[in-house]
Amino acid sequence: ARPRVWVSRPTFPDIVARLDPYFDVVAEPREVMFSPAELATKIADCDAVIVGLKERIGAAEVAKAPRLRIVANLGVGYDNLDLAALTAAGVAASNTAGALDESVADFTWAMLLGAARRIGEAERWLRAGQWHGTRFTDWLGIDVRGRTLGILGMGRIGQAVARRAVGFGMQVIYHNRSRVPQALESECRARWVDKDELLRTSDFLVLALPLTPESRHAIGAAELARMKPTAVLVNIARGGIVDDAALAEALAQGRLAAAALDVFEGEPVVNPKLLELDNVLLSPHIASASLDARRGMTTMAVDNVVALFGHGPHAGHPPTILNPEVLAAASPTTHP
Ligand code: GLV
Ligand code: GLV
Repeated sequence: ARPRVWVSRPTFPDIVARLDPYFDVVAEPREVMFSPAELATKIADCDAVIVGLKERIGAAEVAKAPRLRIVANLGVGYDNLDLAALTAAGVAASNTAGALDESVADFTWAMLLGAARRIGEAERWLRAGQWHGTRFTDWLGIDVRGRTLGILGMGRIGQAVARRAVGFGMQVIYHNRSRVPQALESECRARWVDKDELLRTSDFLVLALPLTPESRHAIGAAELARMKPTAVLVNIARGGIVDDAALAEALAQGRLAAAALDVFEGEPVVNPKLLELDNVLLSPHIASASLDARRGMTTMAVDNVVALFGHGPHAGHPPTILNPEVLAAASPTTHP
Protein backbone atom coordinates (compact mmCIF):
# COMPACT_ATOMS: atom_id res chain seq x y z
CA ALA A 1 0.00 0.00 0.00
CA ARG A 2 1.11 3.55 -0.61
CA PRO A 3 1.97 5.66 2.41
CA ARG A 4 -0.87 7.72 3.77
CA VAL A 5 -0.82 11.48 4.44
CA TRP A 6 -3.34 13.44 6.45
CA VAL A 7 -3.68 17.19 5.89
CA SER A 8 -5.46 18.63 8.91
CA ARG A 9 -6.93 21.74 7.30
CA PRO A 10 -8.02 23.04 3.92
CA THR A 11 -5.08 24.68 2.17
CA PHE A 12 -4.38 24.97 -1.56
CA PRO A 13 -5.53 21.91 -3.55
CA ASP A 14 -3.12 22.53 -6.44
CA ILE A 15 -0.16 22.35 -4.03
CA VAL A 16 -1.46 19.40 -2.01
CA ALA A 17 -1.99 17.54 -5.32
CA ARG A 18 1.78 17.26 -5.58
CA LEU A 19 1.51 14.50 -2.97
CA ASP A 20 -0.75 12.41 -5.22
CA PRO A 21 1.95 10.59 -7.22
CA TYR A 22 3.40 9.04 -4.06
CA PHE A 23 0.76 9.01 -1.33
CA ASP A 24 -2.84 8.33 -0.49
CA VAL A 25 -3.95 11.74 0.72
CA VAL A 26 -6.76 12.61 3.09
CA ALA A 27 -7.23 16.39 3.25
CA GLU A 28 -9.79 17.83 5.65
CA PRO A 29 -12.37 19.79 3.69
CA ARG A 30 -13.20 22.11 6.60
CA GLU A 31 -11.44 23.88 9.47
CA VAL A 32 -12.07 21.74 12.55
CA MET A 33 -10.80 22.07 16.10
CA PHE A 34 -10.04 18.40 16.77
CA SER A 35 -10.23 17.04 20.29
CA PRO A 36 -7.17 15.05 21.39
CA ALA A 37 -9.17 11.83 20.85
CA GLU A 38 -10.25 12.85 17.33
CA LEU A 39 -6.70 13.86 16.50
CA ALA A 40 -5.39 10.47 17.68
CA THR A 41 -7.92 8.73 15.43
CA LYS A 42 -7.03 10.92 12.45
CA ILE A 43 -3.31 10.18 12.65
CA ALA A 44 -3.50 6.55 13.83
CA ASP A 45 -2.85 4.93 10.44
CA CYS A 46 -0.87 7.76 8.83
CA ASP A 47 2.71 7.70 7.61
CA ALA A 48 2.86 11.48 7.41
CA VAL A 49 0.75 14.39 8.63
CA ILE A 50 0.62 18.05 7.67
CA VAL A 51 -0.83 19.96 10.61
CA GLY A 52 -1.44 23.51 11.80
CA LEU A 53 -0.79 25.24 15.06
CA LYS A 54 -4.04 24.08 16.63
CA GLU A 55 -3.02 20.42 16.38
CA ARG A 56 -0.91 19.52 19.39
CA ILE A 57 1.25 16.44 18.84
CA GLY A 58 3.28 14.92 21.66
CA ALA A 59 4.24 11.58 23.14
CA ALA A 60 0.63 10.37 23.60
CA GLU A 61 -0.33 11.08 19.98
CA VAL A 62 2.84 9.56 18.57
CA ALA A 63 2.40 6.41 20.66
CA LYS A 64 -0.94 5.85 18.91
CA ALA A 65 0.48 6.38 15.41
CA PRO A 66 2.97 3.54 14.93
CA ARG A 67 3.53 4.22 11.23
CA LEU A 68 4.08 7.95 11.55
CA ARG A 69 7.39 9.16 10.08
CA ILE A 70 6.93 12.92 9.73
CA VAL A 71 4.90 15.78 11.15
CA ALA A 72 5.10 18.74 8.78
CA ASN A 73 3.98 21.87 10.63
CA LEU A 74 2.20 24.64 8.71
CA GLY A 75 3.96 27.33 10.68
CA VAL A 76 7.43 28.48 11.60
CA GLY A 77 6.70 28.30 15.34
CA TYR A 78 6.29 24.73 16.52
CA ASP A 79 5.32 25.06 20.16
CA ASN A 80 2.36 22.79 19.24
CA LEU A 81 4.82 19.92 18.79
CA ASP A 82 6.74 18.08 21.48
CA LEU A 83 9.93 17.88 19.48
CA ALA A 84 11.77 15.78 22.05
CA ALA A 85 8.96 13.20 22.06
CA LEU A 86 8.87 13.08 18.27
CA THR A 87 12.63 12.68 18.05
CA ALA A 88 12.62 9.95 20.70
CA ALA A 89 10.05 8.07 18.60
CA GLY A 90 12.11 8.56 15.44
CA VAL A 91 9.49 10.83 13.89
CA ALA A 92 10.76 13.74 11.80
CA ALA A 93 9.32 17.22 12.28
CA SER A 94 9.55 20.20 9.95
CA ASN A 95 8.43 23.83 10.01
CA THR A 96 8.09 26.55 7.37
CA ALA A 97 11.15 28.68 8.13
CA GLY A 98 11.93 30.84 5.12
CA ALA A 99 8.45 30.75 3.60
CA LEU A 100 6.96 33.56 5.64
CA ASP A 101 9.71 35.73 7.15
CA GLU A 102 9.32 38.64 4.74
CA SER A 103 5.52 38.59 4.93
CA VAL A 104 5.60 38.52 8.72
CA ALA A 105 8.15 41.36 8.76
CA ASP A 106 5.89 43.45 6.49
CA PHE A 107 2.97 42.80 8.80
CA THR A 108 5.06 43.67 11.84
CA TRP A 109 5.73 47.09 10.37
CA ALA A 110 2.06 47.52 9.49
CA MET A 111 1.20 46.87 13.14
CA LEU A 112 4.05 49.00 14.51
CA LEU A 113 3.11 51.96 12.35
CA GLY A 114 -0.59 51.33 12.90
CA ALA A 115 -0.14 51.56 16.66
CA ALA A 116 2.22 54.55 16.40
CA ARG A 117 -0.18 56.48 14.17
CA ARG A 118 -3.36 55.24 15.92
CA ILE A 119 -4.92 53.83 12.75
CA GLY A 120 -7.22 51.31 14.48
CA GLU A 121 -8.53 53.86 16.93
CA ALA A 122 -9.08 56.49 14.24
CA GLU A 123 -10.86 54.03 11.99
CA ARG A 124 -13.23 52.99 14.76
CA TRP A 125 -14.00 56.67 15.36
CA LEU A 126 -14.67 57.33 11.67
CA ARG A 127 -16.89 54.25 11.31
CA ALA A 128 -18.81 55.27 14.42
CA GLY A 129 -19.85 58.44 12.55
CA GLN A 130 -17.89 60.73 14.84
CA TRP A 131 -15.99 62.58 12.12
CA HIS A 132 -17.67 65.96 11.96
CA GLY A 133 -14.42 67.78 11.32
CA THR A 134 -11.06 67.14 12.88
CA ARG A 135 -9.22 69.44 15.20
CA PHE A 136 -5.62 70.24 14.26
CA THR A 137 -4.36 68.55 17.38
CA ASP A 138 -6.51 65.40 17.18
CA TRP A 139 -5.01 61.99 16.55
CA LEU A 140 -1.43 62.97 17.26
CA GLY A 141 0.70 59.88 16.81
CA ILE A 142 4.34 59.03 17.32
CA ASP A 143 6.93 59.29 14.53
CA VAL A 144 9.38 56.44 14.15
CA ARG A 145 12.21 58.41 12.51
CA GLY A 146 15.22 58.85 14.75
CA ARG A 147 13.79 56.55 17.38
CA THR A 148 15.13 53.23 18.61
CA LEU A 149 13.71 49.92 17.48
CA GLY A 150 14.41 47.04 19.84
CA ILE A 151 14.02 43.47 18.68
CA LEU A 152 13.80 40.56 21.10
CA GLY A 153 14.63 37.39 19.15
CA MET A 154 16.95 37.86 16.17
CA GLY A 155 16.06 34.90 13.98
CA ARG A 156 15.04 35.20 10.37
CA ILE A 157 11.92 37.24 11.18
CA GLY A 158 13.75 39.58 13.57
CA GLN A 159 16.40 40.15 10.92
CA ALA A 160 13.80 40.87 8.24
CA VAL A 161 12.15 43.40 10.58
CA ALA A 162 15.55 45.02 11.26
CA ARG A 163 16.42 45.37 7.56
CA ARG A 164 13.28 47.41 6.97
CA ALA A 165 14.18 49.83 9.79
CA VAL A 166 16.88 51.48 7.67
CA GLY A 167 14.23 52.96 5.40
CA PHE A 168 12.41 54.39 8.39
CA GLY A 169 15.56 56.03 9.75
CA MET A 170 15.61 54.15 13.03
CA GLN A 171 18.43 52.85 15.20
CA VAL A 172 18.17 49.11 15.80
CA ILE A 173 19.20 47.22 18.90
CA TYR A 174 18.45 43.59 19.58
CA HIS A 175 18.72 40.94 22.20
CA ASN A 176 19.06 37.26 21.47
CA ARG A 177 20.42 34.45 23.63
CA SER A 178 23.39 34.29 21.28
CA ARG A 179 24.71 37.19 19.23
CA VAL A 180 24.21 36.79 15.50
CA PRO A 181 27.39 36.83 13.37
CA GLN A 182 28.96 40.26 12.95
CA ALA A 183 28.43 40.32 9.18
CA LEU A 184 24.71 39.86 9.77
CA GLU A 185 24.72 42.55 12.47
CA SER A 186 26.25 45.04 10.04
CA GLU A 187 23.88 44.01 7.28
CA CYS A 188 20.89 44.58 9.58
CA ARG A 189 22.60 47.62 11.19
CA ALA A 190 21.66 46.13 14.53
CA ARG A 191 23.60 46.26 17.77
CA TRP A 192 23.42 43.52 20.43
CA VAL A 193 22.45 44.69 23.92
CA ASP A 194 21.54 42.84 27.09
CA LYS A 195 17.85 42.40 27.84
CA ASP A 196 17.81 45.14 30.46
CA GLU A 197 19.21 47.73 28.03
CA LEU A 198 16.79 46.54 25.37
CA LEU A 199 13.84 47.10 27.69
CA ARG A 200 15.05 50.47 28.96
CA THR A 201 16.16 51.94 25.62
CA SER A 202 13.61 50.77 23.03
CA ASP A 203 11.01 53.23 21.80
CA PHE A 204 9.42 50.36 19.87
CA LEU A 205 9.94 46.82 21.08
CA VAL A 206 9.19 44.00 18.64
CA LEU A 207 8.97 40.42 19.91
CA ALA A 208 10.14 37.84 17.38
CA LEU A 209 11.18 34.87 19.47
CA PRO A 210 9.70 31.37 19.70
CA LEU A 211 7.51 30.31 22.61
CA THR A 212 9.44 27.89 24.81
CA PRO A 213 9.29 27.19 28.55
CA GLU A 214 12.09 29.78 28.94
CA SER A 215 10.40 32.52 26.90
CA ARG A 216 7.02 32.20 28.62
CA HIS A 217 6.17 35.62 30.07
CA ALA A 218 9.51 37.00 28.87
CA ILE A 219 7.56 40.26 28.98
CA GLY A 220 5.77 40.35 32.34
CA ALA A 221 5.09 43.02 34.95
CA ALA A 222 8.78 43.40 35.87
CA GLU A 223 9.89 43.83 32.26
CA LEU A 224 7.06 46.24 31.43
CA ALA A 225 8.08 48.35 34.43
CA ARG A 226 11.54 48.79 32.94
CA MET A 227 10.18 50.05 29.59
CA LYS A 228 9.74 53.73 28.74
CA PRO A 229 6.20 55.04 29.39
CA THR A 230 6.36 56.37 25.80
CA ALA A 231 7.23 52.95 24.32
CA VAL A 232 5.16 50.80 21.98
CA LEU A 233 5.20 46.99 22.31
CA VAL A 234 4.63 44.83 19.22
CA ASN A 235 4.00 41.08 19.59
CA ILE A 236 3.90 39.11 16.35
CA ALA A 237 5.59 36.06 17.91
CA ARG A 238 3.36 33.93 20.14
CA GLY A 239 0.77 34.43 22.81
CA GLY A 240 2.23 33.51 26.18
CA ILE A 241 5.50 35.37 25.59
CA VAL A 242 3.71 38.42 26.98
CA ASP A 243 1.76 38.34 30.23
CA ASP A 244 -1.38 39.84 28.69
CA ALA A 245 -2.95 40.73 32.05
CA ALA A 246 0.17 42.62 33.12
CA LEU A 247 0.28 44.35 29.72
CA ALA A 248 -3.35 45.45 29.96
CA GLU A 249 -2.65 46.91 33.39
CA ALA A 250 0.46 48.78 32.22
CA LEU A 251 -1.44 50.23 29.24
CA ALA A 252 -4.44 51.20 31.35
CA GLN A 253 -2.18 53.02 33.83
CA GLY A 254 -0.25 54.88 31.13
CA ARG A 255 2.99 53.07 31.94
CA LEU A 256 3.29 52.13 28.25
CA ALA A 257 2.09 54.24 25.31
CA ALA A 258 0.57 51.54 23.11
CA ALA A 259 0.72 47.95 21.96
CA ALA A 260 0.15 46.08 18.71
CA LEU A 261 -0.74 42.45 19.16
CA ASP A 262 -1.26 39.69 16.61
CA VAL A 263 -1.03 36.86 19.13
CA PHE A 264 -2.58 36.25 22.53
CA GLU A 265 -2.54 33.99 25.54
CA GLY A 266 -5.43 31.55 25.15
CA GLU A 267 -6.16 32.38 21.49
CA PRO A 268 -8.75 32.79 20.03
CA VAL A 269 -9.98 34.24 23.32
CA VAL A 270 -8.53 37.71 23.94
CA ASN A 271 -8.12 39.10 27.44
CA PRO A 272 -11.23 41.34 27.85
CA LYS A 273 -9.14 44.06 29.51
CA LEU A 274 -7.16 44.43 26.28
CA LEU A 275 -10.38 44.71 24.29
CA GLU A 276 -11.44 47.68 26.42
CA LEU A 277 -8.30 49.71 25.68
CA ASP A 278 -8.08 52.21 22.82
CA ASN A 279 -4.30 52.23 22.64
CA VAL A 280 -4.01 48.61 21.51
CA LEU A 281 -4.06 47.55 17.88
CA LEU A 282 -5.33 43.97 17.63
CA SER A 283 -5.26 41.40 14.83
CA PRO A 284 -6.33 37.74 14.83
CA HIS A 285 -2.95 35.98 14.32
CA ILE A 286 -2.63 36.88 10.65
CA ALA A 287 1.01 37.97 10.32
CA SER A 288 1.72 35.13 7.85
CA ALA A 289 -1.66 35.41 6.13
CA SER A 290 -0.57 36.72 2.74
CA LEU A 291 -1.38 34.61 -0.32
CA ASP A 292 2.32 34.19 -1.13
CA ALA A 293 3.27 33.21 2.40
CA ARG A 294 0.44 30.74 2.90
CA ARG A 295 1.11 29.13 -0.48
CA GLY A 296 4.82 29.04 0.31
CA MET A 297 4.15 27.45 3.70
CA THR A 298 1.97 24.79 2.08
CA THR A 299 4.62 24.10 -0.55
CA MET A 300 7.27 23.75 2.10
CA ALA A 301 5.22 21.30 4.15
CA VAL A 302 4.56 19.20 1.03
CA ASP A 303 8.25 19.37 0.04
CA ASN A 304 9.30 18.08 3.46
CA VAL A 305 6.93 15.12 3.31
CA VAL A 306 7.87 14.23 -0.28
CA ALA A 307 11.59 14.49 0.53
CA LEU A 308 11.39 12.36 3.64
CA PHE A 309 9.95 9.53 1.59
CA GLY A 310 12.83 9.80 -0.86
CA HIS A 311 11.12 11.63 -3.71
CA GLY A 312 11.45 14.97 -5.47
CA PRO A 313 14.41 17.33 -5.74
CA HIS A 314 15.27 17.13 -2.02
CA ALA A 315 14.98 13.32 -1.84
CA GLY A 316 16.11 12.13 1.56
CA HIS A 317 16.74 15.67 2.82
CA PRO A 318 13.59 17.43 4.00
CA PRO A 319 14.57 21.09 3.56
CA THR A 320 13.36 22.45 6.91
CA ILE A 321 13.61 19.41 9.14
CA LEU A 322 13.85 20.34 12.84
CA ASN A 323 15.37 17.07 14.10
CA PRO A 324 17.78 15.85 11.38
CA GLU A 325 19.14 13.30 13.84
CA VAL A 326 16.15 11.05 13.07
CA LEU A 327 17.36 10.76 9.45
CA ALA A 328 20.63 9.21 10.50
CA ALA A 329 18.79 6.71 12.68
CA ALA A 330 16.18 5.79 10.07
CA SER A 331 16.83 3.55 7.10
CA PRO A 332 15.85 3.16 4.40
CA THR A 333 14.56 6.65 3.46
CA THR A 334 12.74 5.32 0.42
CA HIS A 335 9.61 3.29 0.74
CA PRO A 336 9.51 0.19 -1.47
C1 GLV B 1 -0.94 28.85 10.67
O1 GLV B 1 -0.50 29.98 10.91
C2 GLV B 1 -1.96 28.22 11.50
O2 GLV B 1 -2.82 28.94 12.01
O3 GLV B 1 -1.90 26.99 11.64
C1 GLV C 1 2.51 31.31 12.66
O1 GLV C 1 2.14 31.70 13.72
C2 GLV C 1 3.73 30.57 12.49
O2 GLV C 1 4.37 30.18 13.48
O3 GLV C 1 4.10 30.34 11.34
